[in-house]
Amino acid sequence: MGQAKRIEHDVLVIGAGGAGLRAAIEAAADGLSVGLVCKSLLGKAHTVMAEGGVAAALANVDDRDDWKTHFADTMRGGQYVNSWRHAQLHAQQAPDRVRELEAWGAVFDRTKSGKILQRNFGGHKYPRLAHVGDRTGLEMIRTLQDHGIHQGIDVHMEVTIIRLFKQGERVVGALAYDRERGKFRLFSAKSIVLATGGVGRAFDVTSNSWEYSGDGHAIAYEAGAELIDMEYIQFHPTGMVWPPSVKGILVTEGVRGEGGVLRNSEGKRFMFEDIPDNYKNQTADNEEEGWRYTQGDKNARRPPELLTRDHVARCIVREIREGRGSPHGGVYLDIAWIKERLPKAAEHIKRKLPSMYHQFKELAGVDITSEAMEVGPTTHYSMGGIRVDGDSQMSTVPGLFAAGECAAGLHGANRLGGNSLSDLLVFGKLAGEHAAGYAREQDRGEIDQDEVMAAMQWALEPFGREASAGSEGPFQVQSDLQERMQELVGIVRKEDELARALEEITGLEERAKKVVVHGNREFNPGWHTAMDLPNLLTVSRAIAMCARARKESRGAHFRIDHEGKDPDFGKITHALAKNEEGQMILREDPVPEVPPELQQIIKDNE
Ligand code: FUM
Repeated sequence: MGQAKRIEHDVLVIGAGGAGLRAAIEAAADGLSVGLVCKSLLGKAHTVMAEGGVAAALANVDDRDDWKTHFADTMRGGQYVNSWRHAQLHAQQAPDRVRELEAWGAVFDRTKSGKILQRNFGGHKYPRLAHVGDRTGLEMIRTLQDHGIHQGIDVHMEVTIIRLFKQGERVVGALAYDRERGKFRLFSAKSIVLATGGVGRAFDVTSNSWEYSGDGHAIAYEAGAELIDMEYIQFHPTGMVWPPSVKGILVTEGVRGEGGVLRNSEGKRFMFEDIPDNYKNQTADNEEEGWRYTQGDKNARRPPELLTRDHVARCIVREIREGRGSPHGGVYLDIAWIKERLPKAAEHIKRKLPSMYHQFKELAGVDITSEAMEVGPTTHYSMGGIRVDGDSQMSTVPGLFAAGECAAGLHGANRLGGNSLSDLLVFGKLAGEHAAGYAREQDRGEIDQDEVMAAMQWALEPFGREASAGSEGPFQVQSDLQERMQELVGIVRKEDELARALEEITGLEERAKKVVVHGNREFNPGWHTAMDLPNLLTVSRAIAMCARARKESRGAHFRIDHEGKDPDFGKITHALAKNEEGQMILREDPVPEVPPELQQIIKDNE
């Protein structure tokens, strides 16, 4: 089995997307030794899949915007089950975080007068998304990476964390393996920040790449942290549906922000037919007005394609199910039509949406300047995650912090597009700052060597199992789980299917304990998947349990057998924790009550 190489840091940051990088920068600025662990290569993160922009009330394009409106939009988008404190801090601090990024070298698109340009996105009242064409996440990662490297952060690439260790209640270390050699590393740290992103790989169709197996959610849960809001999974309305090899890859909402429209096989803009009552006064009821909105007309109302993601995704599913879909099981997203309105439309599209242009040209052979794209919903984001305090981002386990997608609270039942990038900047910084503060006050803790040995033994078990007639490898179990989750816990949910999902997860848990891995420890994806499986199963169980318990439809959680919101459920947050017998227990906690002055802001913005 060998020994684990011991590495000491003051602060260990696990996950090197935007939140992890921002946390590491902040902690390193405090003069501490900071380790940054990436599951794959530095810079390869789901952050780059937030393409269309970062939401911040800079008010550069519409001077009516301010943090209060951003706060109210975020709460409304989240259907008022958000943590108000997260939503407040986020709206207040996002503009400074974006300006800071600009000072560190991020190159944003510009208004004519040279300010950072902002575009429209679903659910945001004003043009609020600072952007770099359709490569905003990529530009953010590039900037944070450049900045972070100069802070003296130690980067551990292609390293996966499999276990956290505690001394008493407090977290003191983590066990990992490196992908290349398959050797163990034991990190000793005074505080740990989890920034491991999402859980998309629990589903069959997703914008997430292979790294997103809910590792942070699961290891935090195993260490005693609570998970909340796990029923809320965001299905982004527009992912690629063809060719099969790229199914699920994101098609940015920026396409719709720039005037792209959704049509069914009959050529109808079906979104006009389904505008919820509470959005009627903000949503255009004719094509002309919707188009003027995307062109920055302050008096126009937004096109229905820019309603919140949950709603747009469900309308797309309806069109497909009722037989009005495209040949490959999606609907049409058309930006080429703008040539009727805009001179030099093709150049405009290539300039504003360069990645989309190349993505469709190279992967699907479609020229989006002259043809419609085929798109359909794709699992994109988990609103649920590790419960953290709004101000410090510390979880319920002392010394364990979380930020970005693996942490919960800000987005409630549904995240607004662009709020993920601002989330990771604002809360990455706060997590880094408070993890550093915590580390300063602690001695280096002791890691129990028996626990380390047991964890290493567990990791190597799949190699030792005898292959027999009925034995199987981890990929089959993973793919069965993804299929089951997609079918039974997807966009449209109901009681009998959720009950079945939970039964099936139990069966898959048993199968996962028996998977056999061949070969050796050096770069062995089968072995890596065998270790990802328990994490995928933990988050899948959490999602299915919460989804079953929430007998109403709210935001991204849609129950066909309980349509509409139930005010009583609007007062409840689902929290999950492990009991002493190792079972996942669901608790109903009250949604934190919004203080009167913030309630007034929400009311003023209704
Ligand atoms: O559509 C997009 O560009 C995605 C943005 C986001 O998830 O925030």
